[in-house]
Amino acid sequence: MPNVRLTDHLDPAYLRQALENDVRSGLTSRPKWLPPKWFYDAAGSDLFTRITRLPEYYPTRRELSILRAHATDVAVRSGADTLVELGSGTSEKTVLLLDALADRGLRAYLPVDVDAVTLGEAAERVAARYPGIEVHAVCADFERHLGLLPRTGRRMVAFLGGTIGNLEPAPREVFLKGLRDTLDPGDSLLLGADLVKDTGRLVAAYDDPAGVTAEFNRNVLRVINRELRADFDPDAFEHVARYDEGDDWIEMRLRATRAMRAHVADLGLDVAFAAGEEMRTEISAKFRPEPLAAELEAAGFTPAELYTDPAGDFALLLAMA
Ligand code: SAH
Ligand code: TRP
Repeated sequence: MPNVRLTDHLDPAYLRQALENDVRSGLTSRPKWLPPKWFYDAAGSDLFTRITRLPEYYPTRRELSILRAHATDVAVRSGADTLVELGSGTSEKTVLLLDALADRGLRAYLPVDVDAVTLGEAAERVAARYPGIEVHAVCADFERHLGLLPRTGRRMVAFLGGTIGNLEPAPREVFLKGLRDTLDPGDSLLLGADLVKDTGRLVAAYDDPAGVTAEFNRNVLRVINRELRADFDPDAFEHVARYDEGDDWIEMRLRATRAMRAHVADLGLDVAFAAGEEMRTEISAKFRPEPLAAELEAAGFTPAELYTDPAGDFALLLAMA
């Protein structure tokens, strides 16, 4: 396709080193934890897409409905001619933003994701749909490579899906400040955040009866088995999703159903699990509008508008650099 370009900042040696470091440090910690970034190989991305279609997983549908109602307003206020999207995945919801921006002089779309396969497919789809727009897919880690992103045009950075909630508070602060540093006055951020709500609905969104989220959670073990020649038995781990009311976040864990050992050949690492031992794989923080706006201000943004759905389940925050 003539209007697609791909830049890859995740060369195999870099990825390998990062995975090795993360897995070694997580599996030798107490309690053990595993790094969430590694959920997203091609199989993990497909499982996430299935999650977004589950009746219990409301965030995608709510964010879509907010975009349907307000994408034009976002486009007008941002005045952007370049859309950068972090953690873009399949770019499905983005089409609403692209439509609104395309009517107002959009020149370029830069999806950024760690999953090269899903990123490449999404970029091709968008390029075919908008032949007049330059699509520049960037395979990169948004926690490490923001400084390497192109800085041309009047940019809006979209960070959708509530993925901001997958960062813990300290790295989140670092991320937001780092992002602000790469932007110029007039650029903007469109941030999707899941809001605090009834605990039952929150937990159901991360623990569906069909077991799709459980498979997604266990996928991190499959990635480690394949990439680091480990011998985890994924089926011996149970999916656990709990809401922590003090921290306002969902915590995803994998619980060993029996005592066992796992060997990670490429790390020369042997790990023992007690029956019932849990390791944390991911958090998904839930937000309240004012403190979130305050976090953005602390990072140097000026909050401009908060859009929400009628039920108040999810929020899109537009902030100016
Ligand atoms: N924006 C989409 C996908 C959300 S899922 C939506 O709203 O539905 C989170 C996405 O972020 C996945 O595509 C995953 O591959 C990507 N991702 C996770 N950690 C990342 C990181 N550190 N750097 C870049 N992309 C990341
Ligand atoms: N960004 C998504 C969220 O926090 C990612 C996600 C959905 C997720 N379901 C999950 C991450 C289950 C880990 C496990 O809602």
